[in-house]
Amino acid sequence: MRLRIQPASRLSGAISVPGDKSISHRTLLLAALADGISNLQGWLPAADCEATLRCVRALGVQVERPARDHLVVHGSGLKGLQPASEPLDCGGSGTTMRLLMGILAGFPFPSMLVGNPQLSRRPMERVAQPLRRMGAEVFTTEGHAPVRVRGGSLRGIQYELPVASAQVKSAILLAGLYADRPTTVIEPVPSRDHTERLLGAMGATVQREGNSITIEPAEQLRSLSLTIPGDPSSAAFLVAAALLIPGAQVQIPGVLLNPTRLGWVEAWQAMGAPIQVISEAEVGGEPVGLLTTAAAARLQAIEIAGAIVPRMIDEFPIFAVVATQAEGVTQVRDAAELRVKESDRIAALAMELRRMGAQIEEHPDGFTVYGPTPLRGAVVHSHEDHRLAMALAIAGLIAQGETIVEDAACIADSFPGFVEAMQALGAEIEPVS
Ligand code: S3P
Repeated sequence: MRLRIQPASRLSGAISVPGDKSISHRTLLLAALADGISNLQGWLPAADCEATLRCVRALGVQVERPARDHLVVHGSGLKGLQPASEPLDCGGSGTTMRLLMGILAGFPFPSMLVGNPQLSRRPMERVAQPLRRMGAEVFTTEGHAPVRVRGGSLRGIQYELPVASAQVKSAILLAGLYADRPTTVIEPVPSRDHTERLLGAMGATVQREGNSITIEPAEQLRSLSLTIPGDPSSAAFLVAAALLIPGAQVQIPGVLLNPTRLGWVEAWQAMGAPIQVISEAEVGGEPVGLLTTAAAARLQAIEIAGAIVPRMIDEFPIFAVVATQAEGVTQVRDAAELRVKESDRIAALAMELRRMGAQIEEHPDGFTVYGPTPLRGAVVHSHEDHRLAMALAIAGLIAQGETIVEDAACIADSFPGFVEAMQALGAEIEPVS
């Protein structure tokens, strides 16, 4: 599928975004391990989360689906997963594979985890190593998927993460549920903390002290009933579009407002964006509320490095698009992790945004954008990376002339309904074959 985008002269409205991807994965995995029935409303029906659902069912957990975004999970208890009869297919989802590796390290039967070619290029030793130290047998294929895990009696360990990664942290904490003593993970800087919050809400003992998180072995988890809040990483695309189109205005209610996910809001506010964050409720231990913005009168370049990087790790593609319209030199450092996401996001971003006239330089651990630069419509490629596809589509709204984003079906990996949401706000975006 390709997307055709026309320059936008207006954009306005109130619109919600689908459920948070990270929380959709985690609530399903944890509900599968809980005692009793969990009700997950607002669950994200995106390709990545469907992979988690497939795997959970393959491990013997009964899941009913009264609606596309509503799951009723019959928890099997912490020890109740059954061996799958076939390899567990994680599709393109890194979160599925890495979190499952942690859980399956707690089970004495062997499991095989496989992924599509894109996922099979991403690093898995970063999860395998700490799990081996806990006593699990883990084989990777030269550091990648397919991965084989056989666990059993695990030792609690203290582990210092070499890179800030919520997926690796979560895998170790989940394995820690099955260990013989407390497990501590030390992160270089804080990453998203949904696993910790949810485990706490389900009755596990998880404590944070500075950058160390300690989990105690658990006997059982309580079931969950919640409405999953909107994904701030999806909201970022709508906010960016509103910032860049003169006279625009958007309101996005019901968004997850966890500070470990809002680095991009702080960055854009510091650049001069009139974004407002209004916290309204708490759901499953997470703050939820309204995001609003109008167009930015003027955006100033910014330097991004250090602790803010993991708090906006998924937003760098759209951040780069916004940076093309800021005055001055925007620099991103300490973000080498971008090279091992769904695509090498540093190389892919630089290549595709240059086709549209952006001045962007690539560095080993980040990029530099010189702005403001008028963008021109072009034929650009998603690199089969959903966040790159959506960032390029937003770039198309402010470009001169028509833009085509090739291979845009991957948008459904995280934001089904992106095209419809943009159309509802008044943008001219349409799929073409
Ligand atoms: C995620 C963590 C991040 C993020 C990914 C989702 C999660 O990856 O990029 O989209 O749900 O834990 P890393 O933990 O590898 O940085």
